Amino acid sequence: MKKVIVMMLLMGIMLIGNAAGELEIFSWWTGGGEEEGLLALFEEFKANNPDVKIINAAVAGGAGSNAKAVLKTRMLGGNPPDSFQVHAGMELTDTYVIPNMMEPLTKYFQQWGVMNKFPQGLLDIVSYNGEIYSVPVNVHRGNVIFYNKKIFKEIGLTKEPQTWSEFIDALNKAQQAGYIPLSLGDKNKWTAGQIFETIMVSEFGANTYNNIFKYEESINTDKLDSSLELMVDLMNYVNKDHAALTWQDASRLVYEGKALFNLMGDWAEGYLKTLGLIPGEDFGWFALPNTQDSFMLISDTFGLPKNSPNRENALKWLEFLTTVKAQDIFNPIKGSIPARIDADKSKYDPYLTWSINDFSSKTITPSIVHGSAAPEGFVTSLNDAINILIATGNVKNARKSIIWACEDAGIITD
Ligand code: GAL
Repeated sequence: MKKVIVMMLLMGIMLIGNAAGELEIFSWWTGGGEEEGLLALFEEFKANNPDVKIINAAVAGGAGSNAKAVLKTRMLGGNPPDSFQVHAGMELTDTYVIPNMMEPLTKYFQQWGVMNKFPQGLLDIVSYNGEIYSVPVNVHRGNVIFYNKKIFKEIGLTKEPQTWSEFIDALNKAQQAGYIPLSLGDKNKWTAGQIFETIMVSEFGANTYNNIFKYEESINTDKLDSSLELMVDLMNYVNKDHAALTWQDASRLVYEGKALFNLMGDWAEGYLKTLGLIPGEDFGWFALPNTQDSFMLISDTFGLPKNSPNRENALKWLEFLTTVKAQDIFNPIKGSIPARIDADKSKYDPYLTWSINDFSSKTITPSIVHGSAAPEGFVTSLNDAINILIATGNVKNARKSIIWACEDAGIITD
């Protein structure tokens, strides 16, 4: 009898021990500068929740090129992770909130006392019908060119290009000196799409770009042609093997001293740092010409799916992500700036300080390719059109495909 009681007590203790349970976090941060920030978050979370077993359900592939499809299948199949990475904007609202797959978080934001700790503009794009649906952990910038300082100097450049003609001049100089002028890795199509969306801001201007994606102004002007032509021109300067490389491979060419420039979101800054480069010393940065006054916004957020298997733990995770501590651990590593307005700015390197200053003073243009400005179907069609354009150089056909995609998405074309 005694034995049975002891056994029951032991089992009870084991159950209580397990009561903290699991926490499955889904993302696409698996390495090459992306994983480090996530793991640092896990470590800090575990320090406060030692009994919670974190399951890292990351699926490799930059910008969620594989993860997004896996996530959708899981969500539609009623098998959601406890919490998952999702971009602020239409990727969140259109794909998951409107189809009723997410829990609103407004009341928790209130409980956690963080309603006024995020820029209103950012809260607006993680909200739908007055309810907040995810926690922004960062703000990335998309219209940045990183460059190898040694090559820059060696080929006689003295100042960062401000205009397109200065930029093209620098590309030519790099080419003549035998370097890759602009590294690209579009094995996953979004990287070329990202170059194109920043060219669109450069050509249309930030306000018109924004109006197009607010369904207020037409995309169907000669700026669409000039954007496509510029894209084709730039392809004369990229590495021949671009279609075989990932974004990390392309950034690595700058690190290895083979390429002068790389246009990439500033997760590349996180990556270059994990490779050991020092921002401002080994590599520099500037905004793509004509986009200096705008900030191409990408924001990673985490949400709470309905029927999250470990809901309590998911809420603990989300609360943790709202804290200054979590944001200041994650972002300096990730190469992004904190979404919270009251983070400790002294923790951020010179590049990130530049980005923090620009975020509060430039026109915000939400990224298409990274899920903020347009619905997923449009993003896929745009990426396809740009990749065919790169292969064929056929501006007319690319234009036609983009206009069709716009018509499907309700973007004004007349
Ligand atoms: C973006 C994401 C970034 C980074 C990048 C490359 O979509 O917002 O955090 O992960 O993809 O994978």
